[in-house]
Amino acid sequence: MAIAQSLTTTASLHYTPFIRELFDTLLTDSWCEVSSNRAIEFVEGEADVAVEKLVPYETRSEQGIFFTADDITMKIVNSLAAEVAVEKSFFDPSCGAGNLLLGIAKSYPIKKNLNRTIEYWSKKFGGCDLHDNFVIAAKLRLIALAAIRHGLPSISEGQLASFVRKFDKFYTGDYLEADVGGDFDCVVANPPFGHVVASRSNEWSSGRTQLAAIFVDKIISSGKKGQKLVAVLPDVLRSGSRYERWREKLAKETSCGAVELHGRFSKSVDVDVFILNLNNKPSVVGQIIEWVPPVTDTEGSVRLGDLFLVRVGPVVPHRLEEGDEDFPFLCAKNAPAFGVTFPEERIKFGGTKFLPPFVVVRRTSNPCDKNRLITTLVKGIEPVAVENHLVVMKPFKGGVNSCLKLIKALKDPKVTSRLNNVIRCRHLTTKSISSMVLQGV
Ligand SMILES: C[S@@+](CC[C@H](N)C(=O)[O-])C[C@H]1O[C@@H](n2cnc3c(N)ncnc32)[C@H](O)[C@@H]1O
Repeated sequence: MAIAQSLTTTASLHYTPFIRELFDTLLTDSWCEVSSNRAIEFVEGEADVAVEKLVPYETRSEQGIFFTADDITMKIVNSLAAEVAVEKSFFDPSCGAGNLLLGIAKSYPIKKNLNRTIEYWSKKFGGCDLHDNFVIAAKLRLIALAAIRHGLPSISEGQLASFVRKFDKFYTGDYLEADVGGDFDCVVANPPFGHVVASRSNEWSSGRTQLAAIFVDKIISSGKKGQKLVAVLPDVLRSGSRYERWREKLAKETSCGAVELHGRFSKSVDVDVFILNLNNKPSVVGQIIEWVPPVTDTEGSVRLGDLFLVRVGPVVPHRLEEGDEDFPFLCAKNAPAFGVTFPEERIKFGGTKFLPPFVVVRRTSNPCDKNRLITTLVKGIEPVAVENHLVVMKPFKGGVNSCLKLIKALKDPKVTSRLNNVIRCRHLTTKSISSMVLQGV
């Protein structure tokens, strides 16, 4: 926590010029076109421009400070239209400068005048962030939005200070250590996407774990019955085998879970994300969450895992399990893309080997690639030791012919688009490959 606090101060201090200008703008005596436009910029993208300009990239990356862009905010806001219409309350546990809350407040009802709206909104909106200047920015931007929606009346210093005080459901600190937000009707979240070591008491993970998963777990454990959660999360939580137990836990404790694939988070953040929407602690639990959009099997289609053994290559070069005999060795570097190989390099290896013919694909691939499954047909008469950057697909029946049919089927653009639905993170899993529905194999 001491580290978090010292970093907090740094990131927060960097953001001070933005807060000062926002304060000064709100205290404008008489609104002219320039100052009104500036106020509008503050509730639009200016908070993001400022964070990128003022807070160094290393600090932002270390602490997951990447504010939500309009496209994702709009998707989240649209999915909450019914809750906005009945004036539910909204909490963001990692609120940053409040982009998600602002998105909601843009269509949230207002009252007769600015004072009444602030009084009302301060009971409906809340948030938490490690950084005090982000929390202040979120409150000031909500005030600016309310002022804009009331035609920009002039605001005195005393009035502004009292407006800020009114928003007393905002907290500065570590959400994971605090007990806040549980009594709100809805939680909206774009949590940090960094990693931490899971605590010993964590039942679904150990070792290096996504903070976003820990955030969701905390939201679920501390939220009231029936609380709605809409969160933007890294794709690995949806598709990574490491998070299978996290997904099972969510399915057990929530209902109406729905997943919307989105794609890359933003131009500067190369992480694929999805939007999770669910109800917490419902009266009927245990409903299935469709983490992967269903594929309708057409006639003659078959799942890859039914015809091929799918395994990650077991050779980790820097942790080589040496044996007495040497064998042909295949690694990503000497596997020609869309070609055929008879591996010539040899290593001593005591672990599992694979007898050709079989097909390998590279484990790392990008959803933006036209073809994510770059294949190599492996031939030879001796068992081959395969590096762990490759995934082996060995036919249960048939030899080279089955391999050639598989290579052809994997080139189908539909396969890449289905694979992108199943997994958008960079590391392919054996499960994602086995689940591919193919035609003509
Ligand atoms: C990805 S940003 C999202 C900000 C905002 N929700 C939005 O949508 O623009 C994540 C935010 O979480 C904050 N944060 C990181 N760790 C946190 C923690 N343990 N508790 C509360 N906030 C945290 C960061 O300061 C950052 O502002």
